[in-house]
Amino acid sequence: MDNEPGCVPSAEQVDTHRAIEPSILYFGTPVVLLSTENPDGSFNLAPISSAWALGKVIVLGLGGDGQTADNLRDRPELVINLPSPELWPQVERLASLTGRHPVPPTKPHGCRFEQDKFTAAGLRAEPSHVVGPPRVAECPLQLEARAQRIRPDISGAFVIVESVTRKVHADSRIVVPGTQHVDPAEWSPLIYNFRHYFGLGAELGRSYRTQTPRRPTSSNTNPAR
Ligand SMILES: Cc1cc2nc3c(=O)[nH]c(=O)nc-3n(C[C@H](O)[C@H](O)[C@H](O)COP(=O)(O)O)c2cc1C
Repeated sequence: MDNEPGCVPSAEQVDTHRAIEPSILYFGTPVVLLSTENPDGSFNLAPISSAWALGKVIVLGLGGDGQTADNLRDRPELVINLPSPELWPQVERLASLTGRHPVPPTKPHGCRFEQDKFTAAGLRAEPSHVVGPPRVAECPLQLEARAQRIRPDISGAFVIVESVTRKVHADSRIVVPGTQHVDPAEWSPLIYNFRHYFGLGAELGRSYRTQTPRRPTSSNTNPAR
């Protein structure tokens, strides 16, 4: 029925949204690969997408049943490696692997133990400068860090890690020449968007706080993107 002129439409008439109950809330965040040290001195590598920056602090959300969380509790050094979009197949090769043996019953069906995840993913380890775990050579951005605070989340299933960045390595192709700035026209994160992988689209605009001028993108020639 039409509204009388001047009447406020009912909520049903104006709301174009549906109330839904999605099984996940992974609304599109960058993928990072965490390298950590196992109890036997070997190194683990795990993809996560629950990671964000507060200055030099990177906050990480980890399953409490994984080897990465275990490693960080006892050996807090890590590298936060940021893959570019074309590395998604290597990331996906790590998706069903855990460094934990035996595999905990809480891990998803099909998850298996893997001792050497770098080889399993087809990625190369390169030495870090200030922490023990190695960097992932193929990742254009690598943050050497130390987990300073680890606490359980409210559900008890996850842990929240606050890690402090100690050294940043950037592929020279994504650095604005002659500066310390990452060039946003040359760098693109790999985005995990409701369990599908995406890169970034074209630039839409910029923040009033940016310190980098707008530059054309060399997306077709730069493999670091
Ligand atoms: C793209 C992607 C994003 C993921 N994000 C997370 C995450 O944010 N937190 C998490 O604990 N696990 C995440 N996982 C799952 C872990 O990688 C998986 O549990 C893995 O077995 C952990 O390895 P680990 O047990 O050796 O630490 C993600 C997996 C993929 C492929």
